[in-house]
Amino acid sequence: MSTVWIVTEKPFSKAAVDGITKIVNAKGHEVKLLEKYTDPAQIYEAVADADALIVRSDLVTKEVLAHAPKLKIVVRAGAGYDNIDLQAATEKNIVVENTPGQNANAVAELVFGLMLLHARKNFTGAAGTELGGKKIGIQGYGAVGRHVARIASGFDMDVYTLAANPLRPRPADDVSEKAGVKYVDSLKELYQTCNYLSLHIPATAETKGSINYELLSNLPKNGVLVNTARAEVIDEAGLVKMFEKREDFAYLSDVAPKNKDLIAEKFPGRFFFTQKKAGAQTAEANNNAGLAAANQICSFFETGKSAFQVNK
Ligand code: 3PG
Repeated sequence: MSTVWIVTEKPFSKAAVDGITKIVNAKGHEVKLLEKYTDPAQIYEAVADADALIVRSDLVTKEVLAHAPKLKIVVRAGAGYDNIDLQAATEKNIVVENTPGQNANAVAELVFGLMLLHARKNFTGAAGTELGGKKIGIQGYGAVGRHVARIASGFDMDVYTLAANPLRPRPADDVSEKAGVKYVDSLKELYQTCNYLSLHIPATAETKGSINYELLSNLPKNGVLVNTARAEVIDEAGLVKMFEKREDFAYLSDVAPKNKDLIAEKFPGRFFFTQKKAGAQTAEANNNAGLAAANQICSFFETGKSAFQVNK
């Protein structure tokens, strides 16, 4: 019998935890749960007997791994795995997986929640604008980006993204043709073209700080940046400069910047930050990602194979 720990500061729904437990128990393994922890030391204690670990945005550091002598697999129930020290995991022969696509629709729906809130003046009753007929640029055309394209076409928006990368063919479930997605050749052109620019890129060495003033300043009048991806991709000084130089600019984000208090003080009414990262926080996304994580762990225990490994 193996021990699967679910370690989530932001808990899954109870139904998702029950679902994970059912899958894991059916294969003869046990589930243990640590939620809403306040100190990394609680994780260190928890993972001492862990064979497998399911996390969300929880930090799986070298120290966490050092406290988990039996650990064989970590599954990030979600898409982005920048919270996991891949190098430390690889050094310890620990497999790291994600569950790509499982929470993508939830994140995409939040993009429209944020845009509607802003377009309708925070539902204050003041005359707002409509999304229909506006242009939305999708930077990062992965699982979330494709859902954004699909929903945007339902709003009658014009959808743009970067031209296809010949080295990375589009996946079979690409909806771009149906959604009428148009392609541009450069990021600059994407920003110049679109009223709304929605970020769906991971936080990597290449992307961190890449959304800077130079790029943002290409947005047309009343341009809106929507970030449901990662705070780290924003150059925060560049963001402040954009707010200062462009009184028409607004920023809507599910991943508030470190300088959010300064932005709130200096640029009231031109931003919206969720109280806690909420993109994947739906019953459906919790179930999809949580159950996928449980199934992936059981399959790894059974076959030793991992179709979703990200630290090969
Ligand atoms: C992801 O990368 O899957 C999303 O950012 C969701 O993160 P969360 O599970 O911490 O809500």
